[in-house]
Amino acid sequence: MKPANEFPSADGLWTGLRLATDAGAEAAIVVEQGAIRWVGARSALPAGFASLAPHDGGGALVTPGLVDCHTHLIYGGQRANEFAMRLAGATYEEVAKAGGGIVSSVRATREADEDTLFAQAASRLEQLLADGVCAIEIKSGYGLSLEHERKQLRVARRLGEAYGVTVRTTFLGAHALPPEYAGQVNGSGDYIDLVCNQMLPALAAEGLVDAVDVFCERIAFSLEETEQVFKAAQALGLPVKLHAEQLSDMGGAALAARYGALSCDHIEHLSAEGIEAMRQSGTVAVLLPGAYYTLRDTHLPPIAALRAAGVPMAVSTDHNPGTSPALSLLLMVNMACTLFRLTVPEALDGVTVHAARALGLQDTHGAIAPGMPANFVLWNVREAAELAYWFGQQPVRAVVRQGRIAIGAKE
Ligand code: NIG
Ligand code: FE
Repeated sequence: MKPANEFPSADGLWTGLRLATDAGAEAAIVVEQGAIRWVGARSALPAGFASLAPHDGGGALVTPGLVDCHTHLIYGGQRANEFAMRLAGATYEEVAKAGGGIVSSVRATREADEDTLFAQAASRLEQLLADGVCAIEIKSGYGLSLEHERKQLRVARRLGEAYGVTVRTTFLGAHALPPEYAGQVNGSGDYIDLVCNQMLPALAAEGLVDAVDVFCERIAFSLEETEQVFKAAQALGLPVKLHAEQLSDMGGAALAARYGALSCDHIEHLSAEGIEAMRQSGTVAVLLPGAYYTLRDTHLPPIAALRAAGVPMAVSTDHNPGTSPALSLLLMVNMACTLFRLTVPEALDGVTVHAARALGLQDTHGAIAPGMPANFVLWNVREAAELAYWFGQQPVRAVVRQGRIAIGAKE
């Protein structure tokens, strides 16, 4: 792989494009110093731009760069054995209680050194990037101690630098109870104290934390513990997000909304009160069809009610070794349509504009607009619906990421 700073500049005039929103007319994009200077119908291009360095889009459809707003990309090992256990009838909760689940990835992550984690996550990241991803969220949560959470978050930052991709880090120290706390009288309370009073402040001071997340669930942390973590995040000025109502309705979404959460994610069991709270706080609903599919879940998230309330819906891979070993965001677009009945424009907004909002990146990602960094994807398809329709196809023709041609440059 070429270092990101050697990708060629995308500056100049891009023609031969068709916008996903208006595929009929030829469109043009002007990139100047890595940012969008102008976008619109080719016929309306101001004369002054006509002589800029030309880039021929060859009739490709163009969309904003994709944003994968919920991943657990960095971990040691893999958990194909649990896949087999679930096929034989065990549930996710049963696997977790039997010592598998998140803590088995914690063991493997603790054993791996930083460079090993980097190399393994890098090969997964490359696959996501090949689908047009220009910004990605990466959570910690498989270290569950200061030293090992730091290791994960450092790898996340290094990946962003090496690939020239926007990485937002999320501290998920409250993902599961570390094995050394299991069976202790006040193990959960003691661990949450450690998360709030030591791990989070130290990692935030090192500049490793962009947001804070909690797994609020029967098999993870309670509503009260979740609020304790949110208070610690708030004291440090960090935004929060939540793994909410995935397996049961814990009331987590309403709590997160009270803390102005950027997003509530999973939300299969979200209640009407949760939806109303999210609407009021402008919290994004992040749909994770890969986890729903892998767990062979049958309890659909309340899509129609979210739509009726006008809550923005994002779509993400939730890439993780347990419930969603997915390496294609486009496949999630397909699944969001087939499994969750999103319309194609909803699903595409879900991996662009709304996903950017779920990360607080709405001013720099998820749209092709003057003044924003140039992040866009050229696709070898005739119409936008094809991005949801094909699955297993890789229709990327070129990717402009952070003002550089990351994929598809002429040698
Ligand atoms: O988003 N729900 C909790 N966390 C992950 C699963 C993590 C794991 O099983 O390793 C999720 O589905
Ligand atoms: Fe997750």
